[in-house]
Amino acid sequence: MMKTIYITILAIIIIVTLALLQCGMYETLGDDKLKSFPIDLSVYTRQIPVHGLVDPACSRTKNVYVCAGICPWSNTPNNERIACFFLPRKPNPDFVANNIYCTPDPDQCPSYNAWLKDDLPQTRQHIQRIPDNLMSNFTLNYSIPIDYSNQQFRTTDTWPANWTIESIEKYRKQVRARESYGSYNSKDIYPALDNYASLAIINKTCAVIGTENPWIEAALLEYNASSVTTIEYATIYSSAPRLYTITPMDFARKQNNAKERQLFDSVWSYSSIEHDGLGRYRDPLNPYGDFQTMIKITCILKPGGFLFLSVPLNTHDFIQFNLHRIYGPIRLPLLYRHFHVVEVLGSGMANRHGDSGTQPFVVLQNKIGCNSA
Ligand SMILES: *[C@@H]1O[C@H](CO)[C@@H](O)[C@H](O)[C@H]1NC(C)=O
Ligand SMILES: *[C@@H]1O[C@H](CO)[C@@H](O)[C@H](O)[C@H]1NC(C)=O
Ligand SMILES: *[C@@H]1O[C@H](CO)[C@@H](O)[C@H](O)[C@H]1NC(C)=O
Ligand SMILES: *[C@@H]1O[C@H](CO)[C@@H](O)[C@H](O)[C@H]1NC(C)=O
Ligand SMILES: *[C@@H]1O[C@H](CO)[C@@H](O)[C@H](O)[C@H]1NC(C)=O
Repeated sequence: MMKTIYITILAIIIIVTLALLQCGMYETLGDDKLKSFPIDLSVYTRQIPVHGLVDPACSRTKNVYVCAGICPWSNTPNNERIACFFLPRKPNPDFVANNIYCTPDPDQCPSYNAWLKDDLPQTRQHIQRIPDNLMSNFTLNYSIPIDYSNQQFRTTDTWPANWTIESIEKYRKQVRARESYGSYNSKDIYPALDNYASLAIINKTCAVIGTENPWIEAALLEYNASSVTTIEYATIYSSAPRLYTITPMDFARKQNNAKERQLFDSVWSYSSIEHDGLGRYRDPLNPYGDFQTMIKITCILKPGGFLFLSVPLNTHDFIQFNLHRIYGPIRLPLLYRHFHVVEVLGSGMANRHGDSGTQPFVVLQNKIGCNSA
């Protein structure tokens, strides 16, 4: 009896707290903030040739409705643009052959605050099919095929995880031994660590977007990052030095406060963004979840800062609903819209229809906040 009352009171407290937090968030994310940075990012990034080069217009997404939005604040003091150091592009043969290096049409939502994506309602039940009214949005005007044959739904909250010095050290040992390791038992991270240590890791502030196990975090700590911040929906406690964790909602609140705002030298994301918006992990159904998260990344990365992004690459675009998106010539240029694509670390694109086999890190640099370089 006492236990039931206790749980009920606890539930009420949690609901009220969440409601208050929500209100607070609507307030801080309101229109006032938007007015302070009313620029159309797509027009703006097209004005930034990198090493004298502006890529030709994309042909596959002409007149397609895409709503990614904007950053509501500047990633430089006083909203100025600074000179950025961009590495020369190392063209990837598959990217060349499939016209990945192209400039998409402007975004259709030049005033939408991309952080509002975190306010959409969570997916509480397994959504097995894309609703009719969102079909054109998910498929980019019916240009990307969908397959429904394989589905999953995360029904329970991820149990609060506890990252300790010991659990991190286990991974760090594997990094020192250069083993295949981590959630995907892969060696994909080593070229990034080796080639970008001084530019993006040593004494740099790093963020990791979407993690279940801290394998990337451990590698960055092993390579002497000054701090590593993991942004993840699950509740995670970290007692490891220099390793911090935060949920996207708390992170959004912090970023919206100019005094608490953080800018990172590098952002890392492995096998996360392709899920964003499909509802598999109880995330809100959102046809443009992946694009909006990319906008959020431009907001938290220093101008010219590095993004190491891994999503499944294939010469044929595909949506395996609700598992993931597979990125090809249609969606990839939209995903990379505000970034300079430096290189593909590892194999290029898979070319068997539906095959999600290749998932190398692609090295990108943030164009937002830069003037011509
Ligand atoms: C979708 O494609 C059709 C036919 O190709 C075209 O007429 C229509 O304008 C497109 N819709 C949008 C929103 O771009
Ligand atoms: C879906 O696309 C249509 C245009 O084709 C647009 O009017 C509508 O707002 C989009 N829906 C969402 C949720 O973005
Ligand atoms: C995490 O694990 C450590 C070591 O086992 C323990 O001391 C600490 O209390 C745990 N923290 C939480 C929040 O569970
Ligand atoms: C990193 O920072 C430490 C402490 O400030 C300093 O001793 C070291 O020289 C720095 N290393 C590099 C490569 O800048
Ligand atoms: C990290 O720091 C340790 C201790 O200072 C040093 O031995 C190691 O070489 C550094 N690693 C890198 C990648 O700089």
